[in-house]
Amino acid sequence: MSKYFPQPKIININSDVELIAFQCQDTVVQLASIPPGATFELHRHPESQIGMQIAGRLEININGTKEILEPLGQVYVAGSNVLHGSINPFSETALAFDVKRITNSDEAEEAILKVTATKAEITGFDCRSVVGSWFEIIITKIPPKGIIPIRQSANEIMAIVLNDKLTIAVAEEQQQLKYGSVYYAPANVLYGGYNSSDQTVSLIEILIKPHSNFSAKDAFSKTDVVRSPKAAASASLATS
Ligand SMILES: [Fe+2]
Repeated sequence: MSKYFPQPKIININSDVELIAFQCQDTVVQLASIPPGATFELHRHPESQIGMQIAGRLEININGTKEILEPLGQVYVAGSNVLHGSINPFSETALAFDVKRITNSDEAEEAILKVTATKAEITGFDCRSVVGSWFEIIITKIPPKGIIPIRQSANEIMAIVLNDKLTIAVAEEQQQLKYGSVYYAPANVLYGGYNSSDQTVSLIEILIKPHSNFSAKDAFSKTDVVRSPKAAASASLATS
């Protein structure tokens, strides 16, 4: 099974709502289809969760704060063990994605973050982005025959192709992706892409900032390892 092109796993939340989940190392990316009238009951879990609408609208509830989410307009943020849920009171089926991960982030964050227009640094393609405490989301419009140059990042990156098809290479593997699949580029692994179609293809990239699961406790225990007697002895030899 490919680490870079994870297999989908179907999860039935209730009779109305189905999720397609992709495990990308210690992060889960889920695609949800929420028909009119369907409800995602309020719930909480240790993982932090973020999400966005792909099509249609939803009413999200984050710990009592309610907001209508527009397609590719906002990101909602539910921290660890924060109550969250949603309903679709509209007449159109809503498509959305969410990302779940243990973050240990203590940074206070707004429940709703707005997406703003920008330009991709390397390619100059039109894009929209939003930055949070442990993540960044970038939505890029890749023109026909457009190339995403081969690159590597200090961030882990997961991405969803929204329409048509995109050829994606991660390390030595290559696949044609369309909506309903995800690719995963671990930190410092080379990846790139090509739009061979004659249509503009939209790509949502989810960047996980380095050390976003690195707690103060972990940092302390790692310091302890460095200060083991053997390490301390070699450190004093090196400085003497
Ligand atoms: Fe959740």
